[in-house]
Order: sequence, then C-alpha cells, then structure tokens
Amino acid sequence: MVHTKAEILINQMIAPDHFKMVLRLKDFRGSVKPGQFFHIRAGSDYDPLLRRPLSIHRIGNSTDIIEILYKVVGKGTQLMSRRSKDTYLDVIGPLGNGFKIAKRQRNFIIVAGGMGVAPLLGLCDELAKFRKKNIAVILGAKTADYIVCEKEFRDLKATVLVATEDGSRGVKGLVTDVLADTIKRFDLRETGIKLGAKNTSELTIANYQPGATLYTCGCKAMLEQVAKICRRYNLEAQASLEERMGCGLGACMGCVVNTVSGYKRVCKDGPVFELGEIIF
Ligand SMILES: Cc1cc2nc3c(=O)[nH]c(=O)nc-3n(C[C@H](O)[C@H](O)[C@H](O)COP(=O)(O)OP(=O)(O)OC[C@H]3O[C@@H](n4cnc5c(N)ncnc54)[C@H](O)[C@@H]3O)c2cc1C
Ligand code: FES
Repeated sequence: MVHTKAEILINQMIAPDHFKMVLRLKDFRGSVKPGQFFHIRAGSDYDPLLRRPLSIHRIGNSTDIIEILYKVVGKGTQLMSRRSKDTYLDVIGPLGNGFKIAKRQRNFIIVAGGMGVAPLLGLCDELAKFRKKNIAVILGAKTADYIVCEKEFRDLKATVLVATEDGSRGVKGLVTDVLADTIKRFDLRETGIKLGAKNTSELTIANYQPGATLYTCGCKAMLEQVAKICRRYNLEAQASLEERMGCGLGACMGCVVNTVSGYKRVCKDGPVFELGEIIF
C-alpha cells in the first residue's frame, strides 16, 4: 500500500453518469489484485474531507496503470468527473484483500448488479487466463442504458446474460431471476456427465454437486438473494461489499459488517468476503 499521486490519463463518460478513469500511479512498483480498491481524494484540496473508496476495475500491462469505473452519485464523484486529463489525484492503495482465485475450478459465474460490475471485469481478466474454463456473466441494471462492460466480457469469451428491470435489454427482471437458471445449465454441462445422467430429467437438485465458483458485487438486497441461491445449490461464493468508509485503513471501525465470526471491517478484512459468512 502506498500514498501517492496518480496522473489521470483518461477520464471519459461511457454511459449516462458512468465514467472510466485510467490512472498512472507515480513511483508504484507493487502488486495489485482484482477486488482491491483505492481510497481517493476526489478534489484538489481537502473538500470533501473524506476520501472515496473505488475498486480497481482493470489492471494495465504494468501494475502502475489502473482503471477505475465509477458512477456519479454525489459531491465526490461529481468532482472526479470534472477532473481533466494530465491532472493528479491523491490516492492511497491498493487496499483490502481482493478476490481469491479458485485455481482448481473451471466453472465461474459472475453476478453484477449495477455498478457492482466495477471490480468484476478485472477479475474476469484473471479468470480468462485459465485454460478450459467456462465463465458465465450475469449483468443487471435498471435499464439498457446502464448495462456497461458487456462487450469487454464477451471479448474475454464469457457467456454474457443481461437482465434489466424494465425489460429494455435481455431478460425482464433481476439478475437473481437469471442466476438459478444459469446454475442449472452449468450443472448439465459439467456434473451431468460426471454423474452419468442419461437425460436432463434425471438431474435433480438431490444429485447436484458443486460445479462452479461464484463472484458477485452489488447492493445488499441483491447479495442477500444471491446468498440464498448459493446456499440452496451449495455453491462457493465471494462477494465484494460496499460500506461507507472513514479512514479506509482499519483504524476507525466506520465500515464494519456483521458476519458469522463477528464484526469485520470492510476496508481491512474485506472488501471481499465469503458470501455465506455475511449476516444480512
Ligand atoms: C470497497 C468499495 C469499492 C467501491 N468501488 C466502487 C466503484 O468501483 N465504482 C463506483 O462507482 N462506486 C464504488 N464504490 C462506491 C463509492 O465509494 C461511492 O459511490 C462514492 O464514495 C460516493 O461518493 P460521493 O461523494 O459521490 O457521494 P455522496 O453520497 O455525496 O457521499 C457521501 C459519503 O458517503 C459515502 N458513500 C456514498 N455512497 C457510498 C457507497 N455506495 N459505498 C460506500 N460509501 C458510499 C461516500 O464515500 C462519502 O463518504 C465503492 C465502495 C466501496 C466501499
Ligand atoms: S473505514 Fe476506518 S476501519 Fe474501515
């Protein structure tokens, strides 16, 4: 983790209120992992005082180049959206633990609700390096305008499924509506053969074996539903959580969440947790 300046190489609107920012971290030679985040001073002075936590969206060819994907929601992100190329941001990072990559696994499901997509594309970059893998990505948003990164996931050879609340793109409904169906398809393609089922009707939940690792990020209500589905199908799952943050360094306890092993700090113990450990 370093406290450094980051030069803005690109700060570009890619969808209504959604911006992609490419940063070059000054004098940075460390490592960065998908799922980690940077704590960023949005303005050029101390207003606003608190830094804004933003995930690493993608990692460049060298680790001093990182992409951030952010949605303008308030004062800090509004200020960031007005920052011009060649100016510098004050950043601390990379912070947090990042996703654990399940190297023995070949089937991956990525579930992104809205801006939850931000940390998941960089993760998909890593997963796509595996040989013989199946990656299913479920992207959800209110309307088609807010579905971002679909092409980037497809370029990584992922199967992409889209859900929009108003039905303007893909399935009308929520990502969780699409999820159970996707799990069944993974089941048929992978464990169906292993189990020797002669036809699909022989495959039931009773003979289902865990066949995929799931990664997710989105609002708490969505994560709670995803957790229920994962429990039902006995799926391993990791979730990147968002909580309001003060220090971002583990000192102020401003970002705690309740888990089966007590309160945990999202900034220091997370932001990625085993989904089954979160108490909603
Ligand atoms: C680990 C982590 C990673 C994140 N990654 C991304 C990302 O990649 N892209 C993205 O668009 N957003 C991300 N968020 C959410 C992002 O931090 C907030 O949208 C942002 O801080 C809002 O700042 P604001 O000043 O524009 O909004 P305001 O509402 O004016 O912010 C007021 C205060 O609330 C906090 N806050 C508001 N919304 C959130 C939120 N959803 N989560 C946490 N704190 C919030 C702000 O940091 C600030 O301290 C992440 C949050 C966390 C905790
Ligand atoms: S923000 Fe201070 S402990 Fe997490």
